[in-house]
Amino acid sequence: MIQIKDKQFEPFIHHEQIADRVSALAEKLNADYTGRKPILIAILNGAFMFAADLVRKLNFDHEIQFAKYSSYDGMDTTGKVKELIGLSISIKDRDVIIVEDIIDTGTTMSKLIPMLKSKGAKTVEIATLLMKPGKLKVPLDVKYCAMEIPNEFIVGYGLDYDGIGRNYRSIYVVKEG
Ligand code: IMP
Ligand code: MG
Repeated sequence: MIQIKDKQFEPFIHHEQIADRVSALAEKLNADYTGRKPILIAILNGAFMFAADLVRKLNFDHEIQFAKYSSYDGMDTTGKVKELIGLSISIKDRDVIIVEDIIDTGTTMSKLIPMLKSKGAKTVEIATLLMKPGKLKVPLDVKYCAMEIPNEFIVGYGLDYDGIGRNYRSIYVVKEG
């Protein structure tokens, strides 16, 4: 059990299981991207740990960039996406893989994908660590997803509650009540 601010969290996904699922996702990417030299765009802050583990399991040439968008404040989605750190290289005619921590309503991705396509990306796919399919509000084609979870708030392995909890190597779920 861990305490962050006013909330208690209990163990949810052990770090060994995360590692297994990340390896399986890397295998799929290895099968699909050999010879294509894609650009991975890792979304800050949440995806930093997943991205670091994922790229060490990729066996094809690729570049990695970091970008930052914001749609969350505490535990509530604001429904808007703000660009905080943009891309510094051209993605024209490139295969792009967005590396995301978690897809919740899908708002962030649904704004980001057309934006990347308008910058001339040849293909844009999503590789996400987690997805809450029950909360998806917009149609989204997520080709690479390591784990699906129910509609619960989680922290750890890069994910935070009000800025805290990203450092845990396992994932914890909020304890209600
Ligand atoms: P979306 O735009 O609603 O899909 O929100 C996605 C973003 O919300 C993710 O990149 C996370 O930063 C954040 N988020 C969604 N669910 C959680 C959660 O359970 N814990 C921590 N952050 C979350
Ligand atoms: Mg995020």
